[in-house]
Amino acid sequence: MTEQALIGSDLKGRKAIVTGGARGIGGAIAAALAAHGVTVTIADLDAEAAKAAAAALGPEHSGIGIDVRKRESVEAAMEAAAEAMGGYDILCANAGVSTMNRAVDLTDEEWDFNFDVNTRGVFLTNQVAARHFLSTGKGVIVNTASLAAKVGAPLLAHYSASKFAVLGWTQGLARELAPAGIRVNAVCPGFVRTGMQEREVGWEAELRGISPEAVIADYVSQTPLGRLEEPEDIAGLAVFLCSGASGFMTGQGINVTGGVYTT
Ligand SMILES: NC(=O)c1ccc[n+]([C@@H]2O[C@H](COP(=O)([O-])OP(=O)(O)OC[C@H]3O[C@@H](n4cnc5c(N)ncnc54)[C@H](O)[C@@H]3O)[C@@H](O)[C@H]2O)c1
Repeated sequence: MTEQALIGSDLKGRKAIVTGGARGIGGAIAAALAAHGVTVTIADLDAEAAKAAAAALGPEHSGIGIDVRKRESVEAAMEAAAEAMGGYDILCANAGVSTMNRAVDLTDEEWDFNFDVNTRGVFLTNQVAARHFLSTGKGVIVNTASLAAKVGAPLLAHYSASKFAVLGWTQGLARELAPAGIRVNAVCPGFVRTGMQEREVGWEAELRGISPEAVIADYVSQTPLGRLEEPEDIAGLAVFLCSGASGFMTGQGINVTGGVYTT
């Protein structure tokens, strides 16, 4: 068996930027990459939390502020990360937000907020990384999409639309960068126990007129493996997609949902 075929065994010494890595799914991805010997820069809107999360992984890791909605911020933060680490060859574009509302009541501001962070943020960070990878001749991108990128979700139609867009971008960019050997894939998590979910449970309970416990029970009942997903459940897939073990995969959006029905 070649070294590349052993999942994650080729990651030691690589350098990654993980956006939205101060907590939640991005935090678990950053920790899993670090455990495989990757030097990680956690880039997050919450710069203090990013620094604390990086320090918890070890002294070789760092945290930096970024607002993925803004080109100047993305360029400055990713350039600073490249300078500090001596380049990078992995981008996990994971930062994302959600709001919940009925489509008929949705405001322009809610639509723009979801698209600015989830879609424009992936575009900007991926573009800056792609330019870097094309100049160095290697690199891999893993975007965080969602179960809602495969199936439109009620009360989250705007969020679903922003995440469907992430998969379209992932496919197109993957095909453009394939001749250079640069791979672009996406992870699609289900009902994951994070701060985002906690906020959604509160909104959904109010909008549906049921208890937060009933909302959570509904999520679990939709999940054949029978529990809420944990951020760590996604980390293994992210490691695989960064590793040479997935070297012949690009343009894919892989579900890691405990079996929730998707197309
Ligand atoms: N929790 C779920 O059930 C779930 C399911 C599917 C997909 N996702 C996706 O996973 C990703 C991570 O979600 P999570 O549940 O860990 O959320 P979270 O709210 O726990 O963490 C998100 C992180 O992103 C950061 N962030 C927000 N806006 C930012 C910006 N403009 N620039 C930089 N950083 C920003 C936040 O500060 C935070 O640290 C998101 O893209 C989300 O859409 C989550």
